[in-house]
Amino acid sequence: MNSAETPAPYGTGSQAGGAPSQPVPRIRTHHLQSAKDSGRRFAMLTAYDQYAAEIFDAAGIEVLLIGDSAANNVLGHATTLPITLDEMILFSRAVTRGASRALVVADLPFGSYEVSPAQGVESSVRLMKEGLVHAVKMEGGAHYAETVRAIVRAGIPVMAHVGFTPQSEHSLGGYRVQGRGDAGRQVIDDAVALEEAGAFCILMEMVPADVAAEVDRAVSVPTIGIGAGSATTGQVLVWQDMAGLRSGKQAKFVKQFADVRSVLSDAARAYGDQVRDGSFPGPEHSF
Ligand code: KIV
Repeated sequence: MNSAETPAPYGTGSQAGGAPSQPVPRIRTHHLQSAKDSGRRFAMLTAYDQYAAEIFDAAGIEVLLIGDSAANNVLGHATTLPITLDEMILFSRAVTRGASRALVVADLPFGSYEVSPAQGVESSVRLMKEGLVHAVKMEGGAHYAETVRAIVRAGIPVMAHVGFTPQSEHSLGGYRVQGRGDAGRQVIDDAVALEEAGAFCILMEMVPADVAAEVDRAVSVPTIGIGAGSATTGQVLVWQDMAGLRSGKQAKFVKQFADVRSVLSDAARAYGDQVRDGSFPGPEHSF
């Protein structure tokens, strides 16, 4: 790697908010590996559109994920299952246009890789070629090692997603912590098998903190947690949860860092009031 490509220390973007000004070096998978090797942490957020991507990128978020959670958080579905590869590509194109620094990863949606390693490669190629992402994420354990191997062999970095895998929520019996007690061994074995297959990173969702810590020790690649305690190299949250856009009960692992829902609601009310009372548009908004 060219040392001129090394990005500024993780966690701080070149500016707060706003549109990007100067191009900054792209974060690549080896930067995440260096973070693990040197004991640094990094942050990942979901993004599904241009402005979220632009804001999070400028805020220094190292990895942006076009999660299949766009199904629940953008399209209004009850689960992640209905989202299609074509829809994922559309969201990916918007995010990649908005992010100049972050590593951009897209989920392989349900139904786009389960049939065979070849199907996984074809779907991943479409996400890279049409969605312009830099890596794909795939849910599933050791039984998908061959598929991960095939995608990696095609030159596509794979982030593996183990523990609770929302695409399997019906077979897992709903949103439930995975890997409690003896089942912790399976999570560790899955992670090790997927690293061996070539995954550059292991994401763990809703697993006990001690199991996640053991996975982090068992693999040499970086780990990312969501509801997996604090021992992982990185953390990820769905942005609408992180920023308080979503209504309703939050999962235990969510921390809300803002109240964007109230901000938008107040703005919409103020706009509606001013239209109705005639104070908007004023002379300064008229030609
Ligand atoms: O789809 C998603 O948002 C995810 C999570 C890990 C945040 O997979």
